[in-house]
Amino acid sequence: MKFIRDQENLTEKRVLLRLDLNVPLKNGRILDQTRIDKILPIINFLIKKNSKILVISHIGRPRGRVDKQLSLKPVCENLEKKINQKINLIEDDILQLKRNDLFNDSKERVIFLENIRFYEGEEKNDTNFSKHLSKLADIFVNDAFSCSHRAHASICEITKFLPSYAGLQLETEINALAKVTTEIKKPIACIIGGSKISSKIGIIKNLIPKFDNIIIVGGMANNILDYLGSPIGKSFRENDCEITINDIFKTAKIHSCKIVYPEDVVVGKSLEDKAKIKELNEVNKSDFILDIGPKTIKKIKDIIENSKTVLWNGPAGYFENPNFALGSYEIAKKIVEKNKDNLIYSVAGGGDTIAVLNQINEIDNFNFVSTAGGAFLEYLEGKELPGIKALN
Ligand code: 3PG
Ligand code: MG
Repeated sequence: MKFIRDQENLTEKRVLLRLDLNVPLKNGRILDQTRIDKILPIINFLIKKNSKILVISHIGRPRGRVDKQLSLKPVCENLEKKINQKINLIEDDILQLKRNDLFNDSKERVIFLENIRFYEGEEKNDTNFSKHLSKLADIFVNDAFSCSHRAHASICEITKFLPSYAGLQLETEINALAKVTTEIKKPIACIIGGSKISSKIGIIKNLIPKFDNIIIVGGMANNILDYLGSPIGKSFRENDCEITINDIFKTAKIHSCKIVYPEDVVVGKSLEDKAKIKELNEVNKSDFILDIGPKTIKKIKDIIENSKTVLWNGPAGYFENPNFALGSYEIAKKIVEKNKDNLIYSVAGGGDTIAVLNQINEIDNFNFVSTAGGAFLEYLEGKELPGIKALN
């Protein structure tokens, strides 16, 4: 792997810079800026080197179609203020874009392309799409570790057409995670939550042999409860997961890994509702399960108490509404309490988990916080991530 940090002559070089600016947004408002703050070092580094920076990122999952709600505009405006420079957001069709259309103003240093997932070629890892992108720049830098588990055009295929380098944040993250995984102390608890069930449920089975406890909360827990015959009302769930869940329980038995899931829940009639604590059998047809209940919180705290390492990806509930944030806050506070006395090693990862930690000002009280969620879990699986492989 070649590192951008080591490159000398970058003056006037056009750098195609893949970032993960997939920040949580609500009505165009950025709910958490951590992912933007984390890429300031690479932007400042390249500006100092007199490069011309062409930023690529995605927001959300627009699946190859333009969706104005998922524009990079708010991110662009936020970054403009942070680096005190005008940034041009190119909203025109990238496929029509030519090299000469860009950087015509000699003072211009940073340009953004609009959400790369507006284009079908991105998720298809399409060769022609990558080739076209490559013509807009001289070199490629991947500073999006948190997207490197995706075999997408702006992560993987692009590296076939441009000299490619690891960015500063990507380097930091892989070094930190390599250290975590080699020096890990047992017993290890891994807490997995959040809403991206489909990305994560298949990973759990592979994590089982490595951990003593896997605690499943958030959206995925609904699937587990449903599988076990508990009513889940209108709660978010993924279809066709029965075989995967069956496998999880079977594998856990073989490896003596405990699978922990909610014993009680907090429900609402809508995402905006107030919280109501319920026993599992009290959940009715019109309920959404939106957080874990007090008995579950206590159980998770006891496991953290008896662990030497805690890895956490994904909130326990719909934390965007404070009424359903308690489970996540309590998990965070317990980890921090143990951390302060140096009794555990703690790692948290993922955009939403970071947002939770920021809401209660605890982000600096973990041993390591990764911007990556899905990529973090796949790294823990021991897989070589496609985006990292492409740089090697
Ligand atoms: C993330 O937030 O996990 C990254 O931005 C990758 O997004 P994805 O899970 O939609 O691929
Ligand atoms: Mg993800």
